[in-house]
Order: sequence, then structure tokens, then C-alpha cells
Amino acid sequence: MTTTKTAVVTGGTSGLGEAAALALGRAGWRVLVVGRDAERGAKVAAQAGNGSEFVQGDLFSLDDVRRLASELARRAPALDLLVNNAGGVFSAGAPTVDGLERTFALNVAAPFVLTNELVEPLATAQGRVVNVVTGIMHGFKTTLEQLAGPKASGGMMAYVRTKLALIALTRQQQHRLGARGITFVALHPGIIPTTRFGHTMTGLNPFTTVAPFFAKVFRLGVTEAVAAARYVKVGTEAVEPGSYYYEGVVRPAPALAADEAFSSAVWSLVEQQTTPARRAAA
Ligand SMILES: NC(=O)c1ccc[n+]([C@@H]2O[C@H](COP(=O)([O-])OP(=O)(O)OC[C@H]3O[C@@H](n4cnc5c(N)ncnc54)[C@H](OP(=O)(O)O)[C@@H]3O)[C@@H](O)[C@H]2O)c1
Repeated sequence: MTTTKTAVVTGGTSGLGEAAALALGRAGWRVLVVGRDAERGAKVAAQAGNGSEFVQGDLFSLDDVRRLASELARRAPALDLLVNNAGGVFSAGAPTVDGLERTFALNVAAPFVLTNELVEPLATAQGRVVNVVTGIMHGFKTTLEQLAGPKASGGMMAYVRTKLALIALTRQQQHRLGARGITFVALHPGIIPTTRFGHTMTGLNPFTTVAPFFAKVFRLGVTEAVAAARYVKVGTEAVEPGSYYYEGVVRPAPALAADEAFSSAVWSLVEQQTTPARRAAA
């Protein structure tokens, strides 16, 4: 009988996802590396070892997220760990094929649908979901209209709003699906200036201009290896279900994300935005 555990890491073809996939591989895990670039994905899977594989998927398309989920479930009928790592920040621009603002689509809609579609394999393994978020000020606020729909804009504020929504969803997932034996946590990995984070913004872009300079001069942030160790820690060690892990340590979630009425409203909004018939009727 094999004891090898299986993890899915989205955005595993570069940046923190790649570092986390390799760290899990070193810890003996089989990793299903999800991404868009088959060449890079195959390399990461080969390096991770333990029978790891690349599985292609474009998280900007909810049809593709659903197709991807069934492919993952076929390859891992018992799934021990799902790391919803893929995420980013996009300037206002053309929406996705589903009509969603891109920051919301990648940071909220895709992990929501992927997780829902993988509940059975996760429940079979009594597995865990790690939603990768960011550090957010305790009193940060957003409205539901700013999150999704015609008033949702891209940019850095959309990034923080969508990550707040993902923390809120993590709490709801624990509340609604925890009875299936699945554990949900949110992780802020720290500031890691060496990835391609922010390069997806257009126009005068601080992430490609001043940020690398300041990061280097003031030695800001941590290495990808330090961040990857945080992924492994919250993905494999004992955790508090439903919690917000700030740089790998439990912290109180931002107040709005911890508010039951707000997080429940976020769940309903995201459910509606990711269900074509319900979006059309709204
Ligand atoms: N770096 C930081 O300081 C920092 C701080 C806090 C939180 N985070 C979070 O950490 C996570 C990883 O970020 P990172 O720093 O590693 O950034 P990154 O280098 O930009 O990596 C983002 C990953 O997401 C993937 N991705 C983007 N769009 C996708 C799509 N439509 N379908 C499938 N995959 C897609 C990318 O794949 P491609 O290679 O194909 O583009 C890439 O692998 C994100 O959720 C980010 O918000 C980062």
C-alpha cells in the first residue's frame, strides 16, 4: 500500500507556486502542478519527483476550471492538499470569457469553483485546502459591488478586495464543508519581491519600476524558499481550521472577513457570479 500523499498546486509553473511544488516534492509528496505553460510545468513536475505530473488549465475560464477539476479528480481520487496559489493583479481591461473582471476571476472565482468541484476527492482523503491571500490591514473595507459586477475595477485595490473576499470564503468553506472532514486555511506568504507578481499590470507599473529597486536597496521581504516553507507548514502540519495564517502564524482575520454576515454574502455573490444561469438572471 502506498503512503505517498498528493497535492494540487495551481500556478505551480513559476514563482511561489513552483517553489512550493518543489518543496512539497522534497517532503515526499506527489504534486499535480497546474498551470498554462506545458513546458515549464513538465520541468517542475519532473524536478518535484514522486510521480508528480503537470496538468494544464487556464483559470481565466470557468469551463476550463471545471474540465481541469475532473481531470485532477481522475488523477487523484483521494486528494490530500489543494493549494489555491495562482493569483495576481490586473489593470482594468477586457473581462474574461465569463464576463468577470480578471482580478476577481483569478483570485476568487477560480479557486471557489475549483474547490467546490474537488470536494469529493478532498473529503475522501480528509484533505486540506490552502487559499493563498495577502497581508491586509485589519480595518480594510469593501462593498460587494466593488468586488464583482459592473462597478468592479482592476488594479491594486481590486487585488486587496479580492484577497479579503478569499479570506472570507475560507471561513465559509470551513463552516459549510468542514463536516466533510476537509480543513480550510488562508495563508499570507509574506512579501517576496523576486517573483513576477504585479508584472501583469499595464501602464506606469510600480512592480516593474521602483519596487525591485527599493526591495534590493532596503532588503525588503523574504526569499521564495522561506515562503515555500510556509506553504509546506500550513499545508502539512497541524493547523486551526478556518484560520488566517500571516507569514505562517495564526492572526485574527481582517474584521470584515471575520464578519459572518459579510462572509456569507460574499459566498452568495461568488456563487451567483460563477453560475451562468444565475448571472444571466441577476
Ligand atoms: N510575491 C508576493 O510578494 C506575494 C505576497 C502576498 C501574496 N502573494 C500571492 O502568492 C501567489 C503567487 O504569487 P507569485 O508572487 O508567485 O506571483 P507570480 O510569479 O505572478 O505567479 C502567479 C502564478 O499564477 C499563474 N497564473 C496566472 N494566471 C493564470 C491563469 N489564468 N491560469 C493558470 N495560472 C495562472 C501564473 O502562471 P503563468 O506563469 O502561466 O503566468 C503563475 O504561476 C498569488 O496568489 C499572490 O497573490 C504573493
